[in-house]
Amino acid sequence: MNERRVYIDYNATTPLRPEVKASMIADLEVYGNASSMHAAGRLAHGRVEEARAAVGRLLGAAPEHIVFTSGGSESNNTVFQTMRRLASDPSGRPLSGGRNEIITTAIEHPCVLNSAAYLKSLGFRVHFLPVDEYGKIRLEDLQGLLSEKTLFVSVMMANNEIGVIQDIREISRRVKAAGAYMHTDAVQAVGKIPVSVEDLGIDYLTMSAHKIYGPKGIGALYFRQGSPLYPLIHGGHQEDGYRAGTYNNIGILGFGVAAAIAAEEVETYGRELSALRARLRDGLAAAIPHITFNGHPVDTLPNTLNVSFPGAEGESILLGMDIMGIEASTGSACASGSLEPSHVIMALGVEAELAHGSIRFSLGWGITAEDIDYIVETVPPIISRLRAMSTLAS
Ligand SMILES: Cc1ncc(COP(=O)(O)O)c(C=O)c1O
Repeated sequence: MNERRVYIDYNATTPLRPEVKASMIADLEVYGNASSMHAAGRLAHGRVEEARAAVGRLLGAAPEHIVFTSGGSESNNTVFQTMRRLASDPSGRPLSGGRNEIITTAIEHPCVLNSAAYLKSLGFRVHFLPVDEYGKIRLEDLQGLLSEKTLFVSVMMANNEIGVIQDIREISRRVKAAGAYMHTDAVQAVGKIPVSVEDLGIDYLTMSAHKIYGPKGIGALYFRQGSPLYPLIHGGHQEDGYRAGTYNNIGILGFGVAAAIAAEEVETYGRELSALRARLRDGLAAAIPHITFNGHPVDTLPNTLNVSFPGAEGESILLGMDIMGIEASTGSACASGSLEPSHVIMALGVEAELAHGSIRFSLGWGITAEDIDYIVETVPPIISRLRAMSTLAS
């Protein structure tokens, strides 16, 4: 194993920021049950509410519209299950005016795609919007599907694999005009680009702490005043009845600190990481022939660079990089023993072979210009070796 390690997989997860880690270590002492009336409980409750306010500020939302969950997957599931419940209550009386169509996109995270598939299995009509070669949905496609049957629309704000950013404000405007609810999975957007729920005009927004240098296993769901929300987890009256279970003090407090830092640093983050991303992109393009970049040239996260290396296979590239200390990821998912190409890259219309050879570099606070230069020096020989091997094999 190489001594030098360059972690460049921040869209998968981020390490704790030192400030978050230090405050979490101190906050391990906040043991009280935030629902208890005694002093230990009141102390925990006060701290949890401060964290809620910090998370709200990051989105421009009032604290009472933030529900803590176990992460992005749970927040997304909560919205889909809310819509399921809305479509028909247990007595069979429709609550949603007979609306039973859902619109989402072909490039969502599996927790949205599989929630949509679940509702489809229950009889909902689900539309998966295609994307163009850069990963953007076409507004006319959305418009063509919106009708008085549309119950809700879920479009991710920024994609985890290719970083493309959708025009959520305009999408939401159209969805609301059609009388439907609008949800966005903003797990990858929050902390990397400015996000304001008022400006976007959405009903629901999903976020997760471990993508913004907070702890894993904690996230939040924003819901607009008046937009329906039903609990996914039933039990006590925590979270105003929207999500039962004893408060995860340490996770929530760490999330609060991470959110406060993200709110302060989002502009600098964008500026600094897009400069490093450009250095990586230009360096790889100059050193390796025939590579292509997946994603949008302008509407992109500042930290995400997805590259296809024709003639080399994704997992082999990853292994080669890992031996040299570079930790990135491939879009391929190992499904039932066979390596499936990424559904996101395939949705761009890229050939399966190219999709197999795509690598995601996602930058974050730990990355330096020297790290980028190390990657630019190290990756080209790996690709040449793999290309030579695949030529020999064919
Ligand atoms: C776009 C997107 N949505 C949802 C999730 C799931 O979030 P969590 O890991 O907090 O459940 C992820 C995590 O990879 C993501 O990238």
